[in-house]
Amino acid sequence: MVQAVRGMRDVLPDAARRWRHVESVVQQVLRTFAYEEVHLPLLEFTELFARGVGEATDIVEKEMYTLADRDGDSLSLRPEGTASCVRVLQEHGLLYNQTQRVCYAGPMFRYEKPQKGRYRQFYQIGAEVFGFAGPDVDAELIQMGAQIWRALGLEQHLRLEINTLGDGNARKAYRDALVAYLTPLQAELDADSQRRLQTNPLRILDAKAAQTQALLKSAPQLPDFVDEHSAAHFARLRELLDGMQINYVCNPKLVRGLDYYTHTVFEWITEDLGAQGTVCAGGRYDGLVERLGGRPTPAVGFALGLDRLLLLHEAVCADNPGFAENAADVYICYANDALLSHGLELAARLRREKLRVRLHMGGGNFKKQLKRADACGAGWAVLLGEDEVNSGTLSLKNLTSGEQQQLDVEAGCGMLAAACAGST
Ligand code: HAM
Repeated sequence: MVQAVRGMRDVLPDAARRWRHVESVVQQVLRTFAYEEVHLPLLEFTELFARGVGEATDIVEKEMYTLADRDGDSLSLRPEGTASCVRVLQEHGLLYNQTQRVCYAGPMFRYEKPQKGRYRQFYQIGAEVFGFAGPDVDAELIQMGAQIWRALGLEQHLRLEINTLGDGNARKAYRDALVAYLTPLQAELDADSQRRLQTNPLRILDAKAAQTQALLKSAPQLPDFVDEHSAAHFARLRELLDGMQINYVCNPKLVRGLDYYTHTVFEWITEDLGAQGTVCAGGRYDGLVERLGGRPTPAVGFALGLDRLLLLHEAVCADNPGFAENAADVYICYANDALLSHGLELAARLRREKLRVRLHMGGGNFKKQLKRADACGAGWAVLLGEDEVNSGTLSLKNLTSGEQQQLDVEAGCGMLAAACAGST
């Protein structure tokens, strides 16, 4: 038997049910913020991510699924959505003299070491806003996150961390100062940080190794390098968050793993999932549109990791009444093959009423068919025999109480629709 590729997740019906519930709550919140949906391709030219996410990032350096197209072009499965989103809006002329608030959802691919909450194919829902330079949008995006957690009953389980990286110059000046401080101490750093000192020094701030963290205690601090404009932007953002009573922690070591960020960065983190606790992350990337060939356009966004959000939801809401556990509302049984076309017709009619209908397959007597009805968790069975068909009636069996009644077709369909309303 061929096995799944490592790190690619199979989502089975129970998990898919929770997935649908959680994703639809997230989408509903996005809709209330009037974000418009875009669909991004899975494959892009590798260069888009090299230029957008950054050559020296872990993602581009060692985590992309890259392949040569038949004509020799280098393509990569998207490791994230922001660079694609910029390309799409730019390519279709949607960034000129206009603002955009868009969202997207779908799988992303990174060749990371799989563990709980970290997969090689994972699912993000992202929101990106273009054309607003102020902290108002940063605040709105954070408010949106808070709203999503509240709608899912998870608000007690996520903490918000924020930071500002300053403008591009501040970031560069800090990077240089950090390299100057750490270079003489290089031999004392953990192996990963030694490598990062050459490639992506800001990521050393995230290092897990205690010896590296100890060295960082006397390192230059990012807030000392942040320009005045960025500091004011950040102060106003904090004011807006205070006004909305959204709690946060300022973490000067929060730098994010992608190169495009400037000014505000933020992460929503949970303690309930172990090491992979960042459920949602984002920030401002005012230079990215220009870096990818467009006009200077301020932008900010976030992406939430649905796989992690689902793990958290499962940990917190083991049995959430908000989503149906059964596969069908109604199970249609029929006495013999000659009645199959009546069964098909009745199923179609009930589905037009938005009911979830399973039509029995594979023959057998009513007893066997009712067993199947029970097994799929349906609340009702319809028993179609010659009598019912000839008299234009339906025999309906309530599978919870065992009660049975015979109604004419119209009334029976109406009764089922009313009884199962809201289950889908
Ligand atoms: P990111 O921090 O790389 O940012 O990913 C965002 C979220 O995706 C993470 O917080 C996490 O929940 C989830 N995630 C990332 N990698 C994995 C993985 N291997 N397995 C499971 N979940 C994962 C970005 O991707 C940016 N594009 C976010 C953004 C949008 N910034 C501005 N706009």
